[in-house]
Amino acid sequence: MSRMFLPRDINAYLTSKVLGQAGVLRLISVSIYKHIHGLKAGNVLFIGNSGTGKTTVMRAINQFYEDHDELAAFRTMVIINANTLAPEVEGEDRATRLFRRIEARVRALCGGDLTAAQLKAAMENATVCVDEVDKISARVSGKANVEGITTQYALLTLLEGEDILYRTEVVDEDGVRRLADIAVDTSKLLFICGGAFEELFDQVYTLLVNRKDERRLKETSEVDRQPDGTVKVRTVVRFKLKDYLRLSDMFTYGMMPQFVSRFSSIALFEELGREELKKIMLTADDSPLRASRDYFKHMGVTLRLTDKALDLIAEHAMKNTRIGARALREIYTGLIADYEFDPSSSPKLVTTDSGQVLTIDQEAVADYLAG
Ligand SMILES: Nc1ncnc2c1ncn2[C@@H]1O[C@H](COP(=O)(O)OP(=O)(O)O)[C@@H](O)[C@H]1O
Ligand SMILES: [Mg+2]
Repeated sequence: MSRMFLPRDINAYLTSKVLGQAGVLRLISVSIYKHIHGLKAGNVLFIGNSGTGKTTVMRAINQFYEDHDELAAFRTMVIINANTLAPEVEGEDRATRLFRRIEARVRALCGGDLTAAQLKAAMENATVCVDEVDKISARVSGKANVEGITTQYALLTLLEGEDILYRTEVVDEDGVRRLADIAVDTSKLLFICGGAFEELFDQVYTLLVNRKDERRLKETSEVDRQPDGTVKVRTVVRFKLKDYLRLSDMFTYGMMPQFVSRFSSIALFEELGREELKKIMLTADDSPLRASRDYFKHMGVTLRLTDKALDLIAEHAMKNTRIGARALREIYTGLIADYEFDPSSSPKLVTTDSGQVLTIDQEAVADYLAG
């Protein structure tokens, strides 16, 4: 490799695609560095509420490989939901199903005719993201989840880092097709599993508050400056899952100890702040605001969203911690619906020298939210 791609270079790239989550990006940059330099990276588990960027990080990693020709050998990347590993074909097991997906990616990238050695090398360079692993918890809404347990076992065999025999069609040196059993060394793949583990936050918090084990909530002091210039010191307790989470909490949640213990690092995603949400709204590729701008442009209308309006949307989205950045879309699409239907009937539409301009201001957002 002509370039070293140090962890900080990888981190700089990922930071340009993902907002916030500095701790997660540093951690995963080191894993990617190890992976592309042939060192054992270990498996990584992403934990974070919905809409905090887990899938966004997975896509950014994919883009990182795509954007650097030197890393062409690592472009085999699969992002799959854990639930979709359940077999479709009678007798096919879940691990094989995942391997089929990896193989299909390899063939799409490298062409169909591959020798056993070529296929093995390409598959072992893969980055495999299994998303929504919280859905394969042993318990779902208090009931045993047999499918989930089976899938945890299947993933376990892959995460254990051993050679797995995988049967598929290859060509030999004479170009003759034949079936071969390829020994895939799974310790060479980079596995990233991710999930929201929604009740984990409440579960750990409740445990701490009720003093069910020896963990105690840590108190910190905060200083408030009063209007009259005096200061008051308050004792506050800020609960961040990151400061308290233990592997045993994952077992309680319903993940098998063998499964959880196969991860060498756990990356906890943080709730996004107001500035991050604003930026996502303004810059994300899939931002509803961008699509909406295009829509109005098509109608000959320039859409403006004032900074104060954006503040209010972000503020409101932050209150909905269950869906993170996804709340932006929910609020925005509701807000803009009537304007999209008939912009001309709105007093917010004015004709200027440079054409028609629709301005969504703070008042428009407040009216909608009060609505
Ligand atoms: N940290 C982030 N940086 C940039 N965009 C983000 C981030 N978190 C969420 N988003 C935006 O919100 C949408 C949902 O995020 P996603 O990564 O799918 O969340 P998750 O997988 O954690 O549920 C994405 O399409 C993206 O536009
Ligand atoms: Mg996701």
